Amino acid sequence: MLSPDVSQARPQCRNFHLHRLALSPQDQTEEILQGLQAPQKRLPPKLFYDTRGSRLFDTITRLPEYYLTRTECELLHNHLPQLQALIGTTGTLLEPGSGSSDKARLLLDGKHLAAYVPIEISTEYFIDTALELAQSYPGLQIHALCGDFMQLSALPDNLPPPPRTVFFPGSTIGNFEPALAVQLLRRFRSWAGPGGGLLIGVDTRKDTGVLHRAYNDREGVTAAFNLNMLSHVNRLTGANFQLERFTHKAFYNGQVGRIEMHLQSLCAQSVRVAGHTIQFRAGETIHTENSYKYEPARFTALAQSAGFRPLHCWLDSRGYFSLHYFVTDQ
Ligand code: SAH
Ligand code: AVI
Repeated sequence: MLSPDVSQARPQCRNFHLHRLALSPQDQTEEILQGLQAPQKRLPPKLFYDTRGSRLFDTITRLPEYYLTRTECELLHNHLPQLQALIGTTGTLLEPGSGSSDKARLLLDGKHLAAYVPIEISTEYFIDTALELAQSYPGLQIHALCGDFMQLSALPDNLPPPPRTVFFPGSTIGNFEPALAVQLLRRFRSWAGPGGGLLIGVDTRKDTGVLHRAYNDREGVTAAFNLNMLSHVNRLTGANFQLERFTHKAFYNGQVGRIEMHLQSLCAQSVRVAGHTIQFRAGETIHTENSYKYEPARFTALAQSAGFRPLHCWLDSRGYFSLHYFVTDQ
């Protein structure tokens, strides 16, 4: 399933190891079609992340309205010596959905880890980022796993053995339905191994206006990020979505405690996707993302049901974001 592969086209670096997880284009097209043929049309949020999508996400993290990244970085800064000591007991930091790896850099600066294992689906953006990291940290082994962490039940054999710390910042866990989040956390527990840890950032429930603004920024970057998914689908499947015929919608669904993002069709239209015709009514939406918000106690219970033991939970002064450290028992 996973094969080590050091790309010939890129500069070689002795501490850089690239592992590619095969993505089947047929499976991907099948998943897209199934979603678009459902009564409530949907597309999976991993499709946000082609190279442009990753760059747009980086821009979102710097927007004044998007308090999540800033608040989490403040928490990481404020507790850095303690965090470095905790992760230093394991030797390896593994980050599913590593993006820019900016937050990992903070933790890696303490020089007490042997290896960093980022896992990322946005291939081109990822390989460049991981190579830069290998060059910045020559004493650290970088094992870059390129692919979908949802399809990765077992890690490659040649990684440093457990115990490991799984680092899952950014509230990415909120992008999964709670039952799926528990399954994913169980998988993380097996990757961490006995004596391992989980450092995870989780967005909290708060004033609806604050949440609404974070996903409806004034510059329209989140709208561009949402719409970019359609260009990505066009490229992957040869579909003919016309982006100007859709608009960004994001709102807080208080009943279930999540932000929902949708792409709303501005007119009645039909779109060709992989040989199929998909009909849209005016106003109909494609559901592209959920972003669940959790009270810290509720999230702790979720992680406990996946077999983790809580050790620390830190909150910022406004209670906007939580950072949890869980351990696995020996
Ligand atoms: N950890 C970083 C980035 C969070 S954004 C931070 O906290 O800033 C979420 C990242 O997860 C994106 O870079 C996206 O490309 C990646 N991602 C989303 N779904 C994924 C999947 N199924 N497999 C691998 N990576 C995924
Ligand atoms: C990656 N994920 C946690 C982000 C979020 O807030 O749910 C993605 C995002 N969607 C819109 N803005 C940012």
